[in-house]
Amino acid sequence: MDKHAITTYIEENKQRFLDELFELLRIPSVSADKKFAGDVKKTAETVRDRLLEAGCDEAELVETKGNPVVYAEKISDPSLPTVVVYGHYDVQPADPYELWDSPPFEPVIKDEKIYARGACDDKGQMYMHVKALETMMATNSLPCNVKFMIEGEEEVGSENLGTFVHENKDKLSGDVILISDTGMISNDTPSICTGLRGLSYMEVEVTGPNRDLHSGVYGGAVTNPINALASMISSLIDDKGKITIPGFYDKVAEFSAEERATMNSAPFSLETYKNELGIDSVNGEEGYTTIERTGIRPALDVNGIWGGYTGQGAKTVLPAKAHAKISMRLVPDQDNEEIAQLFTNHFISLAPAGVSVKVNFIHGGQPSVTKTDSLAYKAASKAFTEAWGKEPIPTKDGGSIPIVALFKEVLGQDVVLLGFGLDSDAIHSPNKHYGVFNYVKGIETITLFYKHFVSLLS
Ligand code: BES
Ligand code: MN
Ligand code: MN
Repeated sequence: MDKHAITTYIEENKQRFLDELFELLRIPSVSADKKFAGDVKKTAETVRDRLLEAGCDEAELVETKGNPVVYAEKISDPSLPTVVVYGHYDVQPADPYELWDSPPFEPVIKDEKIYARGACDDKGQMYMHVKALETMMATNSLPCNVKFMIEGEEEVGSENLGTFVHENKDKLSGDVILISDTGMISNDTPSICTGLRGLSYMEVEVTGPNRDLHSGVYGGAVTNPINALASMISSLIDDKGKITIPGFYDKVAEFSAEERATMNSAPFSLETYKNELGIDSVNGEEGYTTIERTGIRPALDVNGIWGGYTGQGAKTVLPAKAHAKISMRLVPDQDNEEIAQLFTNHFISLAPAGVSVKVNFIHGGQPSVTKTDSLAYKAASKAFTEAWGKEPIPTKDGGSIPIVALFKEVLGQDVVLLGFGLDSDAIHSPNKHYGVFNYVKGIETITLFYKHFVSLLS
């Protein structure tokens, strides 16, 4: 493989690689909202067409009960190793639109960064794999077979991908699952994610009187569902930052002092962290650092809360109902269904007299860790070292990719999380962006991963 030919090809085609990504970013493939179903489909078709153009022998949309999975493959020689690439073409809702400096589905480059919903998570990172394939085909350096599984429901919990994986075990056979959907510490400090948190996402409803009441006529005499919900929620975390649900920590794996010291030796500035977020203090479970709180400890957060009157001015009302969406981030060896059940039992038991409570488990996924002693990790580490000039540090990310644990369980393949996003990319926030440098450098790193992985295997 000629590294110079590869970097030259990427450089010469950089503008087109960006234009093609922009075309994808312009389609609002929001999986959470049915009104975008047509756009979701169109995105899937576009990804399929681009995979064929990049050199796949075959590419198709596989229908599921939800959004289609794009499956494609380039089989050079069945006796060679196979890399299975996973990514997602769906994005989170772009709300609140008014906080975006430029419209979320009209990508622009400012200060060498691509601004658009999905720029980093995950259209930009997914499309790097398509362009890496094109580059290897054009420079005659694809050393193995490659399969793509690009789904459209990651941002809503990958509900139907599990079935797809179970039903297509043979089709998905390979030697490693390669995913770019995580972050790295910074462009000066490359890192490889080796752990993702699991998730149990709940919705709760608290119901009081049979109708909205006058808050003067009834206030003080009838349990207010919003007041009740607020105090129920606030009791879920104690003053030491511990989650109070009975049994919640029973299966949380403890890390050795040595492992914790290694984690904490990664470059991290609390001052910069606070400044970037505009906060004067961090907060969380007592006895753990910020890196540990997001990497190896669970968390519980309210993601949304509503009820009563929220329009302009004042309306005096004692509402009949209150709602909240609550997520719990999980770590090994917690089980997302078991945690959802513990939450449900506990939350219902918290209801004060005068209200009733309903709890719904919306979606979830298991926590996962990837091995650092696998060939795949070693290849990823070599690829980073060669492309970025520094050996990457293993880290644990706080986010979740629910399907990763299932990949290992069902397909029995190691997973490598070769992510190029930065925390400062503001994924899921307004003005989310992705560095042009990371996009281009990532394509090169991916081609190097193939080279090192295949040579380590043989
Ligand atoms: N790519 C993210 C997960 C992620 C982000 C991992 C940053 C590591 C670092 C993924 O698309 C995502 O947003 N996942 C959701 C879970 C899903 C079920 C909605 C998440 O973590 O909230
Ligand atoms: Mn993602
Ligand atoms: Mn996401």
